[in-house]
Parts: sequence; structure tokens; C-alpha cells
Amino acid sequence: MTRIFFYGPPASGKTSVGRIVAQNLRLPFVDLDRRIESDAGMSIPQIMAQRGESAFRDLETSALKALIENESEYLVALGGGALLREENRALAESGGKILLLDADLQTLFERAQRQPNERPLLTGELKSKLEALMKKRAAHYASFAPRLRVDGKSAKQNAFEAQVLLGRHRLSAMGAYDVIVDSLFKIPNLNNPLIVSDENVAAHHLEKVQNLFGAKAVVIPAGEEHKNLQTVSRLWKSFLENGLDRKSTVVALGGGVVSDLSGFAAATYMRGIDWVALPSTLLAMADASLGGKTGFDLPEGKNLIGAFHPPKVVVADVRLLQTLPERELISGMAEVVKHGIISDPELFELCNNGLDWVKDNLEEVVKRAMAVKIKVIEEDPYEKGIRAALNLGHTVGHAVELVSQFELRHGEAIAIGMAVEARYAARIGRTSPSAVEAIESALTNLGLPIRIPENLAREEIIRAMRVDKKKSAASVRFALPVEIGKVELVEAENLDEVIP
Ligand SMILES: NC(=O)c1ccc[n+]([C@@H]2O[C@H](COP(=O)([O-])OP(=O)(O)OC[C@H]3O[C@@H](n4cnc5c(N)ncnc54)[C@H](O)[C@@H]3O)[C@@H](O)[C@H]2O)c1
Repeated sequence: MTRIFFYGPPASGKTSVGRIVAQNLRLPFVDLDRRIESDAGMSIPQIMAQRGESAFRDLETSALKALIENESEYLVALGGGALLREENRALAESGGKILLLDADLQTLFERAQRQPNERPLLTGELKSKLEALMKKRAAHYASFAPRLRVDGKSAKQNAFEAQVLLGRHRLSAMGAYDVIVDSLFKIPNLNNPLIVSDENVAAHHLEKVQNLFGAKAVVIPAGEEHKNLQTVSRLWKSFLENGLDRKSTVVALGGGVVSDLSGFAAATYMRGIDWVALPSTLLAMADASLGGKTGFDLPEGKNLIGAFHPPKVVVADVRLLQTLPERELISGMAEVVKHGIISDPELFELCNNGLDWVKDNLEEVVKRAMAVKIKVIEEDPYEKGIRAALNLGHTVGHAVELVSQFELRHGEAIAIGMAVEARYAARIGRTSPSAVEAIESALTNLGLPIRIPENLAREEIIRAMRVDKKKSAASVRFALPVEIGKVELVEAENLDEVIP
């Protein structure tokens, strides 16, 4: 159930941006002012002129009440003063999430000039009236969070950023599904759901999720060493034992191992049944639960068997991360740093704030990191091109993870992989020493490793890199950092040069 209110000063783009977001999320769009006009049978300037501002505010309150009482999903663009009344604010806060759109005076002025007759409180001396209104309401607008600055960006860009702040996306490049960052809720219309979780996650969270979904559960052993055919086979059997048919849904509650295995078992059971992802690690929220890649490992290499089979919905509740061991949280930060390096220098900078900041701002970290992956996989769902950028650090990282026999966590191996690949990129002149230094220091500040442990044989790592699924016939493809915010795909034939 998604209920969103866009609020902010006049001409901040609540309607134009709101319409795009509503369309992206397949939500009914409501312009509250237009609704008031149609209920009253006259325009807002007429209401103001004939009945006064206070009567108009009464109509706003009634319209808001009726909407919240009668409609279950919506994106509402509110009037610029709609929440000045405490009663209205309380209504909106109880009826959904409020996003405040904000801009500097000049932007608002330029935009308002384009629709001179629509804003009765600003008729006449537009600029001075707007200035006075903004002065009067500055503290009011500042009291809302989250806030989106809309200056200098297109409505489409602002719509994407609004979705990042709200933690709401609808992916459509590989089957349509919603990605939601919010408290766990009972997903409607799940047919005969069966929860799959691992023993660690189950100990903390299974009971409440079972109660929420009213579902049975199967618990598998935890750890990458169990991401194999034996566990998949065990899942298939338990699907049969629990009476799952072609219309049933698998609910994956866990980290990347649980989602990769459950997604693959769902992809192949009865030629494919639905699954939903409830990621419980930072790594799974920021990365593994998105994009539809599912699969398992062979002794020869990671993820060698798999299928593209996106979930029906992903719900990431960051409160689940409270029970995550610190080492796992740090491991997840490797993929977050990776997303920063790929295309979000601001996210990369935030990672430099260190682990304590991350712990205090997990929701923001998850939302921003997700957004990078979502952009990439929507553009290239089946990895024909740019999606390969997400493999930054993974060509070396997967090999190191495998050769360590999973002593290293996935993210730790990826951190080593990113540092090794960045140093290689500098040696072949693709990136600067300062970029390498920035990457290494971001990773070490978070407590992530950047060197291959001495006990891991270099020859074995090189062999594993050749088996890794990202190799093409004669050469191995790397996603190399060119600068913070940009990667390039490069083929390397001589792997001795990558790991000298
Ligand atoms: N499909 C994809 O696109 C994709 C992308 C990136 C990574 N991956 C895969 O994801 C896997 C790594 O994911 P991961 O790091 O989440 O590993 P994981 O699933 O093994 O979880 C890490 C550990 O944390 C425990 N755990 C998970 N959630 C917990 C919680 N809330 N409280 C307490 N303990 C909890 C787990 O039991 C496990 O021991 C790898 O297999 C990797 O290949 C897949």
C-alpha cells in the first residue's frame, strides 16, 4: 500500500514531478487543488475571492480527510500551504509519506512566472509576494524531511531522485516488480507462500515474518559453502512436501545466499514459480536482491549455474540489519562503495564518513546504493553491455573468495578485488594514482581488506579467474575504475599483469 504526499512551496514542481513518479510507480495521481475545485464547482482564485482563505483551508481539510478515508493507494500533490494547519499535517503524516520539494527563490520565481494565473496568493507583484511568502513559511517548510532540492534539474531527474529518497521503484526491464524500502508488511495476494530462510536469520526474524505472512517456512544452513546444488535440491523437495504448485510463491528472507538459492529454486520448480525477496543483509538490500540474477556455485567457481528470474517484489526493511553481525555489515559496504565508484561520487564520499556514520544512516545508504544498481539494470537487464560495470572488483574478488574457501566474506573478497583491479588500472594508465588511493582509503576506513592474503596461492586465483563466468574465450573482461563515478570494460589477456 503506497501513499505519498508531495508538498512544498508554490511552483516547486509538486505536480509535474509528482505525475512522473506516480506514472513510474503505477499509482493514481491526485492533484488536491484540482479535486477541491471540482468538489466546489469553482476555481481556487474564485474560492479565495468569494469565500476567503480560511474557507479554502476548510475545503483542503475535508478533501484530505476524504482521500485518506476512501483511497488506498495514491500520490498526492498538495497545495503550497496545505499543511500549515496542524490538523492537515497530522492527517497527511498518518496517511502516508510526505516528501518536501524545495528550491531557491529564483527557481520558484522563474517557474511561477510561466503560470501567472494559477496562484491567487501571488497575483500582482509576483517576486516580492513570493519572497514574502517564502520568508513567512521558511521554518514551516524546513520542518519536513525528507526534502528534495529541485533546482537546475529536469522533472525526470527530480522524479528519479524523489523515488530514491522515498525508497520506491518499479523495475520493468526484466518483468515488472516493485522495490520498496520500508517496514515489512503483509504483501497482498501471495498465493500459498512458503518462507525460505537460513538458520541465523531465522533465529532472529522468522517468527515475526511467519506471523505476518501466515506462512510455513523451511530453514537452510547458513553460509556460502551451502550455496550449492544440494541445498537447491533440498529446497525443491521441501516445495513439493509443502504442496507448492505453479501458482505458489517463495518468500526469501535472508542475505544474498538465501535470495540467490531461493530465486533459482523458484525459477526452476515447475518451470518457474513466483518469489519475493525480503533481504536481511546490507549486501542483499544494496545489490543481491535486485536484478533477477539467481543461482548457485560449483566447486570450480561461483554462480556458474543460474537463471535470470526476478522477484515479484523486494521489500527492504533496514531494521532487520540491527541483528546483522558487524563483519557482515562491513562486508555489505564493499558493494556500496562499488556502487559509488561506478556512478555515484556523492555516495562514495558518504562512505568516507566511516562505519559509525553508516550505522546511523543505514536507510540512506541502502536507498542510494540501490538506486545505482537499479539505473544500471534497467538500462541493460541481461548484461549485454553496461551491466558488466557491476562486476567491478568481482573478477578478482570471486576468485579470491573461492580460493579462500569462503573464509573471506563476499564483500571482503570484492573489496580486495576492487583494490587489486584499481591498482592494475593505474599500472596500465586507465586511472590515476589518486583514484586508487581514494578507493583504498575508503575501503580501509570501513575496515575492509585491500590486499590478497598471503596464504592464498596466486596461481590458484589466476586459474579461478579464468573459470569465472565473466571470461570470454581468449581474454578475461574487467570492469576497471577510470575515476570515481566511472568505470570502463577492458579485456586482459595476461592475468599475471593483473596480479603481479
Ligand atoms: N544475485 C546477485 O545479483 C548478487 C549480487 C551480489 C551478491 N550476490 C551473492 O550474495 C551472496 C552474499 O550475500 P550476503 O553477504 O548477504 O551473504 P549471506 O546470505 O551468506 O549472509 C551473510 C551472513 O549473515 C547472516 N545474516 C543474514 N541476515 C542476518 C540478519 N539480519 N541478522 C543476523 N544474521 C544475518 C547469514 O546467516 C550469513 O551467515 C554471495 O553468494 C554473492 O554471490 C548475488
